[in-house]
Amino acid sequence: MTAVLEPALRSPGREEDQDAALRRAAARVLLSNWTGAATVPSRTLYPHQWSWDSAFIAIGLARLAPRRAQRELETLLGAQWRDGRVPHIVFNPSVPLDAYFPSPDFWRSSGAGAASGAPADIETSGIVQPPVHALAAWQVHLADPAESRRRGFLRRMYPRLAAWHRYLAASRDLGGGGLAAVVHPWEPGLDNSPVWDAALARVEPAPPESFRRADLDHSSAADRPTDLDYGRYVRLAADYRDHGYDDARTPHAFALEDPCFNALFIASEHALAEIAAAAGADPAPHRRKAAEATAALVERLWDPAAGIFLARDLTTGEAVGGHSVAGLVPLIVPGLPETVARSLVATAQGERFGLGRVHLVPSYDLTSPEYDGNRYWRGPSWFNTAWLVHRGLRQHGADPAADALREQALDDARRTGFAEYVEPHSGQGRGIRRFSWTAALALDLLHRTPQGEPAR
Ligand code: SER
Repeated sequence: MTAVLEPALRSPGREEDQDAALRRAAARVLLSNWTGAATVPSRTLYPHQWSWDSAFIAIGLARLAPRRAQRELETLLGAQWRDGRVPHIVFNPSVPLDAYFPSPDFWRSSGAGAASGAPADIETSGIVQPPVHALAAWQVHLADPAESRRRGFLRRMYPRLAAWHRYLAASRDLGGGGLAAVVHPWEPGLDNSPVWDAALARVEPAPPESFRRADLDHSSAADRPTDLDYGRYVRLAADYRDHGYDDARTPHAFALEDPCFNALFIASEHALAEIAAAAGADPAPHRRKAAEATAALVERLWDPAAGIFLARDLTTGEAVGGHSVAGLVPLIVPGLPETVARSLVATAQGERFGLGRVHLVPSYDLTSPEYDGNRYWRGPSWFNTAWLVHRGLRQHGADPAADALREQALDDARRTGFAEYVEPHSGQGRGIRRFSWTAALALDLLHRTPQGEPAR
């Protein structure tokens, strides 16, 4: 109760009014993007359910409607494959096929994925996205533990989340070093990041006339991946499909270990330990796995000279890609060596990311010739990575930097009408507006503890 009463005890001022207005606007975005069982990232550009979007959305929804946040994750996990994978898209059958590409008739999960355990009655994609889900489930539980217990939320979620992590730890350890590999640039979520360029250059693109993009109907071509990128995305997804989405059988022309994907795995493995304990299971194996994966992350992907984590290309065995925000995200890993954390904060505040001097955290090195401040993941600042870096800064005691990033994220969300991403120098909104995770994460950042402190 204190949490609800406390804001009224502080003298109401302009900031409180603005925050209340932003909270209402964010709630309206999430309500209008709610389909009855889940939230679409956008009614136009992404009209189905996306995996890591849903996890971030649940984190924000928990501040508004904890029961609906539970439902969001339950719907996603309800489309889990028998091999444990959580698909990156769960298709809504009432949306026309041409509203989004690649559509269910491209992925053909219930047919091509049957031997890998795809559900027979729900169509999904066959690739995955970063495992933010256990972290989200734990946050959703904490938002209303009584309601969570009453509905048996964690008891139902735990076996599914554990199976998801087992899939990543076993079937996706393609490098054999204790990290999960991504096999398509859509899997790490940073689709057209310059980090993937060298590996993608080896992929023969599918002919442009063999598919029709739907994204350009809703967003400017200058803000999106190119046609050549899409040709390669299509080729890789079709190859995986044509090998039954079987990780052992697919040749994997593209296989990399990404620091953001693995950092989220580790943070979620820690959350899974908490969930296991709350659900009456043994947390110890999850703590062990989190510690092992942390050691593997530092050993395989940390570059002390560059002051950042780098992706590793499993085809060449080389570190690739330069300075991407993905390499800063391991700041969220509990128990990261302090020297590594300090170096990451310095890199974030240096000229390549300009933390505190540009808007949010650019997705790619501001000083690189590959940087493009408008184009999707080649430079623009996104709210989910800003939220993750904010969380990491707090975890490592960098509170002034975290406070400034929080203020800026709220201001950018308000100013741009919940843009998908912003141009780092001007702060202008790019991509689409009324984007669900931007609204959801603003709700989470607006949340204050009963003492009036920003939530950790
Ligand atoms: N982000 C991809 C898209 O742009 C898919 O996950 O459609």
